[in-house]
Amino acid sequence: MAIDLGSRTTKAVYVQRNGEGFDLLRYVIQDAPIYDKAPSPELLGEHLRVVTQALEAKTKTVTLVIGMGDSILRNVELPPLPISEMRLMLKFNTKSYLQQELPDHAFDCFILAPTVAPAKPGAPKVAQKYKVWVGGAKNQYVADLQKATRSAGLIPDQITLSALGPVNAFENARPDAFTKDVVALVDIGFKHSTINILSHGELALSRVVAIGGDKITAGLSEALGISYAEAEGIKIGMPSEVESSLQPLLSPLGRELRASIDFFEHQHEKTVAHVYVSGGGARSEFFIHTLQSDLMLPCTNWNPTTSFNIAVPSHQADEVDQVASQLTVALGAAASSF
Ligand SMILES: Nc1ncnc2c1ncn2[C@@H]1O[C@H](COP(=O)(O)OP(=O)(O)OP(=O)(O)O)[C@@H](O)[C@H]1O
Ligand SMILES: [Mg+2]
Repeated sequence: MAIDLGSRTTKAVYVQRNGEGFDLLRYVIQDAPIYDKAPSPELLGEHLRVVTQALEAKTKTVTLVIGMGDSILRNVELPPLPISEMRLMLKFNTKSYLQQELPDHAFDCFILAPTVAPAKPGAPKVAQKYKVWVGGAKNQYVADLQKATRSAGLIPDQITLSALGPVNAFENARPDAFTKDVVALVDIGFKHSTINILSHGELALSRVVAIGGDKITAGLSEALGISYAEAEGIKIGMPSEVESSLQPLLSPLGRELRASIDFFEHQHEKTVAHVYVSGGGARSEFFIHTLQSDLMLPCTNWNPTTSFNIAVPSHQADEVDQVASQLTVALGAAASSF
């Protein structure tokens, strides 16, 4: 089981290994317990119990995905050390390695290809520095998550970051594009959107911006002088009727995306060929068209379930394609936790 604790919506999937691939056995999409602050371990525990009961899983082991409001993700260079030592080093020197005081945090590391110093003829090649992706979260938050998970009768196996979900899901769903192309992945959520740039199988850039469905609905409600609930309905049901109000609300996301792409292209001298959109926002064709005309780059939503054998109950089978983009993070976390 993998559970994406989104700020507005909890997405959970029950996945089973099947030879080289995976079966998707069931999914659940449910409102988060509260939207504006972190739930107590008791409330979260009860929520996890309800969600996992609905998954009807035969396992108790769960991977939890935490949002970018509760975690950090940085790309840094570190001395070539084993990961256990890197984690300790980061813990005691956050300021020097992460340019920020992050007291009482737990860290984990993923090492990218080592950078090799230009060797003199005959000299052994020595890796000077490792390029490392560092993920971190507050110790207290991790402890609360573990407590909540155990109180629901579950076994917390992994805690991972929502920003990485689309990357792992993309590797699984589009292995060719993942290894051969230079693409941007955008996940449009409720509070945040994440931007990842993948370059020939390597995560080259990852950013989080505080723009998502909440800001868009709130902006629409203000622009049209209607309630938040009415604005949400119009945003989802008939966005093209309020095009002139919606477009300016989406353009800040387009600008952030453009800035990230320009930064990457300048640094790496490579061109981003395609933008793949996921998250709740990717369910809107209008959003994708607007992004595409702002960016002047092909933008499409993509289905993270294509590599899964769909073995969900018949009442879910009809709508799985429709909700797939919102399941991207949970599916990516599930696929990478095996
Ligand atoms: N058809 C649609 N058109 C536009 N927006 C939609 C549509 N369906 C869902 N959304 C929006 O998607 C958002 C929820 O998406 P998602 O579940 O990806 O967010 P989340 O994971 O809870 O948030 P975050 O990632 O920021 O923590 C809501 O703001 C909702 O309005
Ligand atoms: Mg999300």
